[in-house]
Amino acid sequence: MAGSILKSWVLSSAEGGESLIRVGRGISGAEELVPPHHRNVAVLTQPSVASVAKELADEATTGTAGNVHVVVLPDGDAAKDMGVVADIYERLNRFGFTRDDLVVAVGGGALTDTAGFIAATYLRGVTVTYLSTTLLGAVDAAIGGKTGVNVGGKNLAGVFRHPSRVVVDLDILDNLPRRLLCEGAAEAVKAGFIAEPTIVAAYEAQGLDAPLDVVVPEAIGVKVRTVEADFREGGLRAILNYGHTIGHAVELAAGISHGEAVAIGMVAAGRISESVLGFAEAARQRDIIAGIGLPVSAPGDLDAAEVIRLIHRDKKRDAGGLRMVLLESLGRPVLQYVGEDLVQLGLREIGVGKS
Ligand SMILES: NC(=O)c1ccc[n+]([C@@H]2O[C@H](COP(=O)([O-])OP(=O)(O)OC[C@H]3O[C@@H](n4cnc5c(N)ncnc54)[C@H](O)[C@@H]3O)[C@@H](O)[C@H]2O)c1
Ligand SMILES: [Zn+2]
Repeated sequence: MAGSILKSWVLSSAEGGESLIRVGRGISGAEELVPPHHRNVAVLTQPSVASVAKELADEATTGTAGNVHVVVLPDGDAAKDMGVVADIYERLNRFGFTRDDLVVAVGGGALTDTAGFIAATYLRGVTVTYLSTTLLGAVDAAIGGKTGVNVGGKNLAGVFRHPSRVVVDLDILDNLPRRLLCEGAAEAVKAGFIAEPTIVAAYEAQGLDAPLDVVVPEAIGVKVRTVEADFREGGLRAILNYGHTIGHAVELAAGISHGEAVAIGMVAAGRISESVLGFAEAARQRDIIAGIGLPVSAPGDLDAAEVIRLIHRDKKRDAGGLRMVLLESLGRPVLQYVGEDLVQLGLREIGVGKS
């Protein structure tokens, strides 16, 4: 297939292996995703993109690959379940999978997290490639080698291991419903505020219609550079949690989507940054988030005490208190301990605990 590559990266980590990441148009075929010489290929996918997976499998079958099996997992986070994982292990066994065989993941973040976990653990590791079909998956979940399934809590079981390839075909992302574009835009604009003004400018100018040809490669670039510096999340990788400390608590308390919660969390963190570090663009950030169509305040009347309890339950709290990612200026994140009064200031900014 004659696609065009816009940008590519090699992301390697001493322990996690190496990923070749490619963004382009018309690049979702077997040539990119099914390297030759595998006797068995299992294409794992989710219902909304099963047709994309089947097309890919047909192409691989007529090419050099041996037996190509398509398996459709349950949609969304229902896939990230040990029962589903066990079922796929058994199927791979029935397919006669060996360590030389290949798993291909076609789907959003929930699917790539699950398929990546299966590939990392089955026979102690088989090769896996990802075709990432959501904006959130493309700019976040597929990049960086974190895999995970939900066991009691979200993503509590997982492995750090890069997929050997990640392919992002913007022709597929062009057709995403606006709800999914919004989900990914929250993480993309977050990448912009912590490290890449180009992304911020694109969303500022065009809201949710910001060109994917700009925001996707730039946001992937931010994640690649951050993970390169800190694969196992000991230090710098924490900046990717900008907007997530308060955001995650609001997500749990209000039952809203992750993207909406991160948007709200960034507004709160922006206000705290303004107060502590003189961040001058909190109001601009808020306008850009609103311009995308993402919320800038929490829904309904959330109980501030409950939100604060959830913030403190978050694993990002350590012995020194609550550590948050704040912004000194656009593209200059810092990790800083914040006291209760500042958390409350952030919460008031998003309409939680107004008195
Ligand atoms: N590994 C990481 O570092 C990391 C980072 C962030 C998020 N995540 C995980 O990613 C998941 C969220 O990502 P997501 O929103 O992509 O999840 P998802 O896979 O659940 O996709 C969201 C929805 O979009 C549908 N979909 C997928 N591709 C589509 C397409 N092209 N057109 C229309 N619909 C499509 C899916 O079927 C699903 O219903 C969570 O499980 C989260 O924990 C992982
Ligand atoms: Zn996130």
